[in-house]
Amino acid sequence: MADGPLDVSGKRVAVLFSGGPASGGHNVVVGVKKALGAKNTLLATKAGPKGLLAGDFFEITDTMIDDIINTGGFDFMGTDRTKIKSDEQFAKVKEVVVQNKIDTVIIIGGDDSNTNAAVLAEFLAPMNVTVIGVPKTIDGDLQLGDLLPISFGFDTATKIYSEMVGNILQDTASSLKYWHFVKIMGRAASHVALETALQTRPAYTIISEEILEKKMSLAEVINDIADVVKFRAEQGISHGLVLIPEGFIEFIPEMRTLLSQMDEIIGHSIDEFAAMDTAAKQEFILSKLDDNAKALFDELPESVRDMLLLDRDSHGNLPLSQIPTESLVIEMVSERIKELQKTSETAFAKFKFSTINHFFGYEGRCGAPTLFDAAYCLNLGLVAGSLALGGHTGYMAAITDLQNGGRAQAIPLTGLLNIERRHGQDEFVIEKALVKLDSPAFRFFVERRKTWAQDDYFTSPGPRQLMGPISKQVPITVALNRAYENLAFDLGNDTTISK
Ligand code: FBP
Repeated sequence: MADGPLDVSGKRVAVLFSGGPASGGHNVVVGVKKALGAKNTLLATKAGPKGLLAGDFFEITDTMIDDIINTGGFDFMGTDRTKIKSDEQFAKVKEVVVQNKIDTVIIIGGDDSNTNAAVLAEFLAPMNVTVIGVPKTIDGDLQLGDLLPISFGFDTATKIYSEMVGNILQDTASSLKYWHFVKIMGRAASHVALETALQTRPAYTIISEEILEKKMSLAEVINDIADVVKFRAEQGISHGLVLIPEGFIEFIPEMRTLLSQMDEIIGHSIDEFAAMDTAAKQEFILSKLDDNAKALFDELPESVRDMLLLDRDSHGNLPLSQIPTESLVIEMVSERIKELQKTSETAFAKFKFSTINHFFGYEGRCGAPTLFDAAYCLNLGLVAGSLALGGHTGYMAAITDLQNGGRAQAIPLTGLLNIERRHGQDEFVIEKALVKLDSPAFRFFVERRKTWAQDDYFTSPGPRQLMGPISKQVPITVALNRAYENLAFDLGNDTTISK
């Protein structure tokens, strides 16, 4: 990239959101517009990839930019999860970009959407149309060491969840009677759960990646939680909070086998399966599962079975947000506690296990961005806009050196692709970054979790701040994993736009 602003005019750039919303997205659009300046045109694509296929655009004006800067959500243009994969879809995109004289498509999305960006970049290259990705997702699973310390949206989402979890921890330590079971978003990876745990210190946090690596069965996890409840009850503590990552169910080894068999079966009959009602879907799946998987499927509560039969999205993902894992865990822990009470000779025998379930997900995706996400996104937009002006293609915009003013980077997307089994076939995808058990953040958590289990050591961080020292903090997991000396970031931090 050149050092100063590029003197380019007449370019037409289309920008779109793809996948779940994440705070700061509007500032990416503002940054792109700022980079393009008055001599180029920025088009908003309505409703994500679906809008690209339909050629549904509107021109973004300076007045619109004034209205959306520093606001949460993706509502300015909407988003969806369409995967552009068939020959007809590629042909349609080609037709749309030609008709609308588009020079660059900027895709603001997660791992799946950036995979789409990589493929589209190759496809549109012969027509001199460029494609740039921007790393978005609250899940934190789009990370690449120092080159991409975190995707945008993670900081705001985890600060919102930490406020909510902190409030409950404070409540339960006041009212002294409930165990709260909180499922928390983040899809497969447990980054969101880990960050929230470090910010609030609940009695028990499941980290899915640990379950898988240690090959723990569901029963072992349940026993572990029940032991913590019992220990606290014996100390006279009848309250606590268990944090459950959204993707937990997929990481229990026996469930993983069941789900991968189901994916394979569904993958070979996607349309046929989608057209069936729930009873027919169940019959179809049961007729094809092996005996072990069939036995496990039969043992699951009906509500969970129904959820496992839901249609996958067009990237092959199970809609985990709709599976009531927290209720399943409550049911199983309650059973285990009853069993333990039968042989108990302490006060625990009469302990009343009162539970409340929660799901924190959608609350965290669209809040007003934290100062970090606001500044980070504005800079990501400037980088994406500059790459568009420079005629570069197949790159993801990135910012490194988050503590030292930020440094613009362009990561080649094809370098990130791996082969993964999806829908019963091998596909190119950007591998999801999961929590590593040897990472400093996970080790930090392991060193403290036993203490947090034994008594109330919670912290309640309160609402996210826009001024003062606390407003200038990166996520704790990012600071630990990147070996920062402290939590402070420096990205210029000025999110006011001068015309
Ligand atoms: P992305 O991966 O697209 O960023 O989505 C993140 C997420 O919020 C996940 O945490 C959650 O599982 C999923 O979206 C829910 O999706 P939907 O909006 O389709 O219900």
